[in-house]
Amino acid sequence: MNEKQRLESAQVSTANSPDKKSEKDYSKYFESVYTAPSLKDAKKRGKEEVQYHNDFAIPEEFRDMGKGRKFYIRTYGCQMNEHDTEVMAGILMALGYEPTNGVEDANVILLNTCAIRENAENKVFGELGHLKALKLEKPDLLLGVCGCMSQEESVVNRILSKHSFVDMIFGTHNIHRLPNILNEAYLSKEMVVEVWSKEGDVIENLPKVRKGNIKAWVNIMYGCDKFCTYCIVPYTRGKERSRRPEEIIQEVRHLAAQGYKEITLLGQNVNAYGKDLTDIKYGLGDLMDEIRKIDIPRIRFTTSHPRDFDDHLIEVLAKGGNLVEHIHLPVQSGSTDVLKIMARKYTREQYLELVRKIKAAIPGATLTTDIIVGYPNETEEQFEETLSLYREVGFDSAYTFIYSPREGTPAAKMVDNVPMEVKKERLQRLNAVVNEFAAGRMKDHQDQIVEVLVEGESKRNPEVLAGYTRKNKLVNFKGPKSAIGQLVKVKITSTNTWSLNGEMIVEEKAEVLI
Ligand code: 5AD
Ligand code: SF4
Repeated sequence: MNEKQRLESAQVSTANSPDKKSEKDYSKYFESVYTAPSLKDAKKRGKEEVQYHNDFAIPEEFRDMGKGRKFYIRTYGCQMNEHDTEVMAGILMALGYEPTNGVEDANVILLNTCAIRENAENKVFGELGHLKALKLEKPDLLLGVCGCMSQEESVVNRILSKHSFVDMIFGTHNIHRLPNILNEAYLSKEMVVEVWSKEGDVIENLPKVRKGNIKAWVNIMYGCDKFCTYCIVPYTRGKERSRRPEEIIQEVRHLAAQGYKEITLLGQNVNAYGKDLTDIKYGLGDLMDEIRKIDIPRIRFTTSHPRDFDDHLIEVLAKGGNLVEHIHLPVQSGSTDVLKIMARKYTREQYLELVRKIKAAIPGATLTTDIIVGYPNETEEQFEETLSLYREVGFDSAYTFIYSPREGTPAAKMVDNVPMEVKKERLQRLNAVVNEFAAGRMKDHQDQIVEVLVEGESKRNPEVLAGYTRKNKLVNFKGPKSAIGQLVKVKITSTNTWSLNGEMIVEEKAEVLI
């Protein structure tokens, strides 16, 4: 589908438009086209093949757009958003903008938002409240809202009616249109809204400015087709689209050549990687088997869905080497009945069986997870099944959440008889178990020698260096600044619930035990 066809098929709504712009005007930069999101359209999954592009270019006439101007991007949410921010920063710098660390001297401010839970959204609306004063002081400032919240109709309507000082709203599928959107915002007095509800194609050659030169994120796929009943992501990120393996491998090779030490392969459901590639039979296991041969010390991936976690992937991970033995495997609930209502499509027993296989195949495998408590009508017994599953697996840590209804998802329509106090109390009880296990797993490291990828000075004490083990444990230790960016050996001298303390070891022969 070309740009014009896409805009014609997109829902061009004028109902909520601030100035009732109505004409379909496909002039050169599509001025006056107001494209609002639609959750109904976002739910559809078409059969059309994904188109891959390598032809992104900054239009000649925009090359100096950012000259003498600065940008600031605030990122909320997951690694996918962090990585999108790197792409937007790349585009802005290609337009001549310079980055700044504070909103005060920025000429363009973008809020790259997260829609996963209500409190994530509240933070953004709070920030918009703060930025209003700045916008009044500096009318030339361009303020944009992008990311997952922009894909929600209700959010766009709320911004249109209550935060009309916002200059631009654009979504997750049209980041590459940023130059045109900015141009439109400079020319127009009205809010520019360009959100595509249908996912875009895969554009390979977008510029990126990576944060740091030690660890890097690499997208392997976009979107999610799982439609867990609580989750907004399939609506905000569109259908599953895998990048071609050769493009991914080339990107990882390039990062290795640049000296990066750790790569995290990213996708909302990485285990579905390759399912949409119609001309080849190729999955995450095949991809990892290729990538492990690249000379880079550590490879991670996130996030996994237990349902698509196949035996071939386990076999490949068991080969070790640069494939780290830490797997983030969201379980969400320990109750088969709740899992069914969540549409996770696995049972408690199937999850435990998968964990058994992983632990049997991968020596020292460490598992972490995500859990939602207080799902609509979750009973005390069902919650206790989550606690017992946690103990049975013995996770190293977990991200735990109270269920948050998301408009447009099936769960938001469910009657819910669990009072908020009960949900909060369950979260506290779960967190007590999470903390107990986290502290226990850290204690296992006492007096052991670990390999640490040193990321920099500790946030709390610049005299101390900080880095992570292969299993993603934070380690603080004294060492020379020259160790930053290197893999070093550290002997653990004391442990806390969420971090380890140690001493750097210089002897070549010291053997890493964990
Ligand atoms: N409410 C609470 N937690 C949620 N998550 C996703 N959607 C919701 C929701 N509506 C959690 C899941 C997911 C993690 C990224 O966020 O645990 O794995
Ligand atoms: Fe959301 Fe993950 Fe389920 Fe996809 S697999 S719907 S991203 S929770």
